[in-house]
Parts: sequence; C-alpha cells; structure tokens
Amino acid sequence: METFRLMMLGPPGAGKGTQAKRLADRLEIPHVSTGDMLREARRKGTELGEKAAEYMEAGRLVPDKVVIGIVRERLQEDDAETGFILDGFPRTRPQAEALAEMGVELDAVVNIDVSDDEVVNRLGGRLSCPNCGAVYHRDANPPAVDDVCDKCGSEGLITREDDRPEAIRERLEEYHKKTAPLIEFYEQRGVLENVNGEASPDEVADAIVEQIGA
Ligand code: AP5
Repeated sequence: METFRLMMLGPPGAGKGTQAKRLADRLEIPHVSTGDMLREARRKGTELGEKAAEYMEAGRLVPDKVVIGIVRERLQEDDAETGFILDGFPRTRPQAEALAEMGVELDAVVNIDVSDDEVVNRLGGRLSCPNCGAVYHRDANPPAVDDVCDKCGSEGLITREDDRPEAIRERLEEYHKKTAPLIEFYEQRGVLENVNGEASPDEVADAIVEQIGA
C-alpha cells in the first residue's frame, strides 16, 4: 500500500488546515495539526495547554521542545503508521531537524503561497467551530446556515483569539523570521511542491492532488 507522509507549509491563514482536512479525507490518513492539538490542550486546561496559551494568544511560537514532544508522541500512534499530514509542524529549523531525527522522511512538503495582504483578509474573516474545529470564512466560505457548523451542527462559531489584528501581525513576523527559511530547507531535500494558494479552495485542492500525485 502506498504511504503518504506529507507536510503543509505556508504562512498563517494560507489554507493549510482547510487543505490538510480535505487531503486527509481523500487519502484516509490522519491530519496532525499542532495548532489543533495545542488548542485542545488549552480547552482541557492541561499543563501543556496552560504553558502554550500565553504564546498562542500573543501570536508567538510555542517553544520547540514542547511542540516536538507532542508530535513525537502523536506519530507513534498506530493510525500514523500508514502516513499522515503534518499541518503547522515543523515551523522552525530545530523542529525540522527533530523530525528528521525521529526517522520521518517526508514524501512531499506542500508550500501554499499566499501574500501577507491576503493573510490579513482571510484571518480577519475566519470563523471556527469550537466543537469540531471546522473552519469557515465570513465571505469566501460561509456556513450554509448562519452561525451553525455544517459539519457537526453546533451553534456559535467563534473568532480565534489569535485572529485579532495585533496577533496576526506578530504571527506573520514569526512566520517570515522562523518558518519561511524551511522553504529552502525542503527545496534542498528535493521534496518541495509550491502551490499558488490565491485561488478558490477547490482549485487549490486540485493543484495539490495533481502535484503530489495523490
Ligand atoms: P496554527 O493553528 O497552526 O495556525 P497557523 O499556522 O497560523 O495557521 P492557521 O490555522 O491560522 O491558518 P491555515 O493556514 O490553517 O488556514 P485555514 O485553512 O484555517 O497555530 C496557532 C498557534 O499555535 C501558533 O501561532 C503558535 O503559537 C502555536 N503553534 C502551532 N504549531 C506550532 C509549532 N510547530 N511550533 C510552535 N508553535 C506552534 O484558512 C484560513 C481562512 O482562510 C479560513 O477562514 C478559510 O475558510 C479561508 N480560506 C482557506 N482557503 C481559502 C482560499 N483558497 N480562498 C479563500 N479563503 C480561504
């Protein structure tokens, strides 16, 4: 059976989560989102969640050691044996090196390219379901019924705390300084697939499937 070990790279709001969820359904492999895992830990009020909260709210990256630990544990679970889609990890050079040291060889790194202006527009209009994590956009991708999640039927879609303008600015800065250098890191390893993220979600999905041969 073919395995897919994939990673979604790109600035905040590029559509990594939107596309990772689609691909995970298509390929029947888990979607491993460090952002979702950290938010879940915060909801549960665990020690990890408490530690991560202040960084996340300010739009800063959580320390490498913390994130590497949760990813290492997650990838040891049975469902990750036949592949996975990493979303939001690695985000720094030390995280990328730690992933390689875990013995993970990525088949493809999908780099979703989106301008800073588009990021600000998308995150400013994003709505998230606090129950199942489904993501919408007020204008580009609204739910069928106002304020109700299409996926799980929960009422009350929310704006993430880190989608406030100051936090968006900080996240973009962190991205350019610490994460964007991974584009070259993975290009040198011959696994980088660049995709234009400024098209409709369906068009971006089609481009990804075509480029990675999924
Ligand atoms: P995380 O949750 O990973 O946030 P992020 O990388 O900033 O990415 P987003 O979830 O904001 O955006 P996305 O690219 O998934 O876009 P989406 O599909 O939602 O991380 C949050 C925080 O956790 C970090 O800031 C950090 O503190 C911490 N953290 C996580 N991982 C870490 C790590 N490895 N190391 C250290 N700290 C870590 O789409 C965005 C919006 O656009 C939506 O409204 C969507 O509907 C819309 N949209 C999507 N595609 C399109 C399209 N093609 N056209 C128009 N609109 C679109």
